[in-house]
Amino acid sequence: MQTRRDPDQLKRLPWDQFEKLDVADKAQAFNRAGNPYHTIFPQQFDRDSLERLCRLATCIRRIAKSRPGVDFLNRLLSHKRAMLYFTQPSSRTFLSFYAACQYLGLQPAEVRDAATSSELKGESGEDTLRTFSSYFDLIIMRSPRQGFAERVAHLLSSSERPIPIINAGSGKDQHPTQALLDIYTLQRSFERLDGIDGKRVMFVGDLLRGRTVRSLSCLLTNYRNVEQFFITDPRLQVAPEALHLLDRAGVKYTVDDDFEGHIPKVDAIYMTRIQDEWDQAGDTPVDIARYSFRPEHLQILRPQAILMHPLPRRQEIAVECDRDPRAMYWRQARNGMWIRVALIATTFSVADEIFDYYRMNLA
Ligand code: NCD
Repeated sequence: MQTRRDPDQLKRLPWDQFEKLDVADKAQAFNRAGNPYHTIFPQQFDRDSLERLCRLATCIRRIAKSRPGVDFLNRLLSHKRAMLYFTQPSSRTFLSFYAACQYLGLQPAEVRDAATSSELKGESGEDTLRTFSSYFDLIIMRSPRQGFAERVAHLLSSSERPIPIINAGSGKDQHPTQALLDIYTLQRSFERLDGIDGKRVMFVGDLLRGRTVRSLSCLLTNYRNVEQFFITDPRLQVAPEALHLLDRAGVKYTVDDDFEGHIPKVDAIYMTRIQDEWDQAGDTPVDIARYSFRPEHLQILRPQAILMHPLPRRQEIAVECDRDPRAMYWRQARNGMWIRVALIATTFSVADEIFDYYRMNLA
């Protein structure tokens, strides 16, 4: 059996040593009592913490249906302040976090462009965020820099004023809170069909640079017998590390480019946009039309299957599909707000208060 190292010791390792740790050790260092303190990568969640978070999100959305319920939620973190540091384009993730903070009474402030902060004067991103940590109690950040959220979480953990960091998308690597909302959506959609266990999930589009795919694929390993399909042009196929993770978890998967052939076989289709902002000059564009969901595909999609997309969408899903009850992307976006309220509540240890309120007033 593997022995785990002391999380306090791990946290204090210098960055050059911390960086080389196994992700399981890093997860320990960033968690507190089984729940994320910093939320940086999907490996910090196990099945129990995922299920608890989904239950909490559902309690919150029900509590928020009434004015006394909203007032209760609003008081929970009214003594805290959050900084939304988004130096990469975002509207839905930004706004859903903003709204999530507001639900808990947490006052949000924002920086949306590094050019408006002292980074323009040559300050390092690390120094900028350390300065912000003096004024706020939580930093929610999106950055084009791979691993930057992890770096900042490590830096703050070993500072005199540690405050939690939530990774709202880092480079091409991870987007853990999108994966949480995707899990919540899958769980709600398959509630009466034995949950997520045993389902077949197909990923389509830019599987190489799409961080949502990597994070969700990883979270799905917490469920039993979930089979994963990676279906796209070979040039956009998922990175080997993501498949090694599945190999280690003993997950069955398929990698190929036969989009139409697989539609009738799966329970969930996760469409994604081509992330061409990462293209290099001279790259030949991929013919995305071959990997787009068209209205005629609704005929071969299973009656109980669902169609997902992290948004923003381009032509990957025809708008004519939006009204089909299996189109889940708008509901996904709303689920995102609730799961983020649940995550922030968990980060600040007010989840039990919410469960108690729910039991006493709504159960
Ligand atoms: C995704 C992202 O930023 O990674 N969007 C999101 O957060 N909902 C997907 C994308 O940009 O294509």
